[in-house]
Amino acid sequence: MCGIVAYLGRKAAQPILVEGLKRLEYRGYDSAGIALLDDGSIHVTKTSGRISALEEILDEPHGRDTLGIAHTRWATHGRPNTTNAHPHLDATGKIAVVHNGIIENYATLRTWLQNEGVVFRSETDTEVIANLIGYIYANQAEAGLPDEQSAFEWAVQQALRKLHGTFGLAIICCDFPDTLIGAKRGSPLILGVGNTEYILASDAAAIVEHTTQAIYMADNEMVLVGPDGFHTKTIDNVTVAKDLKQIEFSLEQIELGGFEHHMLKEIFEQPESLRMCLGGRIDAHDGKIKLGGIRDYLRELTRARHVIFTACGTAFHAGLVGEFLLEHLARIPVETEYASEFRYRNPIIEDGTIVIAISQSGETADTLAAVEQAKERGAGVLGVVNVVGSTIARATDAGIYLHVGPEIGVASTKAFTAQVAVLSMLAIELGRRRHLGSDDAARHIEELAQIPEKIERILEQSDHIRDIAAANIEKDNWLFLGRGFNYPVALEGALKLKEISYIHAEGLPAAEMKHGPIALIADCMPAVFVATAGAQYDKMMGNIEEVRARGGRIIVVATEGDRYLEGVADHFITVPQTPELFQPMLTVVPLQLLAYHAAVLRGHDVDKPRNLAKSVTVE
Ligand code: AGP
Ligand code: GLU
Repeated sequence: MCGIVAYLGRKAAQPILVEGLKRLEYRGYDSAGIALLDDGSIHVTKTSGRISALEEILDEPHGRDTLGIAHTRWATHGRPNTTNAHPHLDATGKIAVVHNGIIENYATLRTWLQNEGVVFRSETDTEVIANLIGYIYANQAEAGLPDEQSAFEWAVQQALRKLHGTFGLAIICCDFPDTLIGAKRGSPLILGVGNTEYILASDAAAIVEHTTQAIYMADNEMVLVGPDGFHTKTIDNVTVAKDLKQIEFSLEQIELGGFEHHMLKEIFEQPESLRMCLGGRIDAHDGKIKLGGIRDYLRELTRARHVIFTACGTAFHAGLVGEFLLEHLARIPVETEYASEFRYRNPIIEDGTIVIAISQSGETADTLAAVEQAKERGAGVLGVVNVVGSTIARATDAGIYLHVGPEIGVASTKAFTAQVAVLSMLAIELGRRRHLGSDDAARHIEELAQIPEKIERILEQSDHIRDIAAANIEKDNWLFLGRGFNYPVALEGALKLKEISYIHAEGLPAAEMKHGPIALIADCMPAVFVATAGAQYDKMMGNIEEVRARGGRIIVVATEGDRYLEGVADHFITVPQTPELFQPMLTVVPLQLLAYHAAVLRGHDVDKPRNLAKSVTVE
């Protein structure tokens, strides 16, 4: 995973590329670099570290560079140092490449090229692409070049056909100072089309400042961009016509809007983002749900005998909540599977099995592979995805978009609540079509409609939650415990704390504690209980007492007005009353804030936690 951006136009490329890299930095940030075409040669500047480190070593822009490519890396092959940073040049210095993805046969190709006398400088798989193109380009005469193609284009095509694995690529050649080539298989790539300029990038965030018109590349396609326009074809040289699409989100949506971090902004956006997600889809008045994206699929869904949710990380936790919802409201048997496990299992897909992939980015490699696996076995496959036009959204038969705008913070927050909201709507709709009475459906919809306003009340406790984080900031081991609908929330609370504050945390179904983890409880170990009103409230009391008796420090998320727990807990946070099945959308919010404040207090880079990146587009 990483971000690539390339520019061809009339303006100086360097500042536009640096700006684009900053917008893509969430995709990877261990090293960065730029290659500019100037005066018939390619000039590369690269460094380990963030874009800010690259900016420090870049020359002042001089305006002659109207073509360039740039990269912010998340290493897969080779350490994140300056040599391994992209762009990579071929051995002749004529070709420069930036790459997102993994070349699976790079070792074979590298050995072959080395035997041909090609010298490699880096440890990356990407350098093989540059050298393969360079080698074919240099030896074109022998190979016999077709008349209608430039040697550059031809060499790129020949090389791409030899690659196994995934790539999003931007490529330039110093002999063709007016040509930019992009190509894609498995990694995202979009070409922004302006009046007199083109921006090729991994995602629209790097493009919207310049144009809102774009073409979305499909797998095994390449685009040739020149002063007279662009031309799309397959890597087998068959021309493909592509429609210009409107990029759906604005620059303002991507920026911080006064918040210190994207994560905090996105936590606070949740009332609004949920309104966007629910808007036009629920009608509390007549108890109806409208999910346009799966309209043609509803019959099959209603008759489903078995639903499998597949996802990773936070989206997996949303799937677990969805499992409870669908079983409870629609009485359909559901399993939730990590996509990384599902893709390598021998899953039983029978008539009536529907697989639903959940993914914020729509680019997660494991989830995409699970989708492909399910399709191969003949399952109907749906997507619950945020990013419109993303790979998973396109790979599925139908789907429901979250519609919550871009999520930039690496820690997923507003996507989770929207995923649960979408799964709630789906469960009510299917329930209604199976056995759920219209009054019950209407009641649920009414409750759902109130969630955004209830989240607003939770957000008012942000400072209080910050104090709780501060009081426990020295603690290196935390437990998160929940039951039923709130068990996935416990898992999510622990994941949030781990990924941004680097504090060890475990999420557990509260009753499992006595089967082992209770041995961990020691003096003052924070244990966060999600103990809201519901069927298992009394059982939770027992679990709280067990921890208290062993000296643990009790942090409770309870329903407003719960005087008893307020008295028992060391720290007490409330959420408004709501039926159990919708509680996860509320109870997760204090845990997001707890993790956020703990990370800030520990001095971490909240939006770019170490070792992580926003979309995990590699295995
Ligand atoms: C969440 O905070 C994580 N950073 C991560 O677990 C994420 O949810 C996971 O990688 C799945 O991503 P997706 O929703 O874009 O597929
Ligand atoms: N495989 C390439 C590398 O390690 C690209 C990785 C990425 O997509 O971030 O440099």
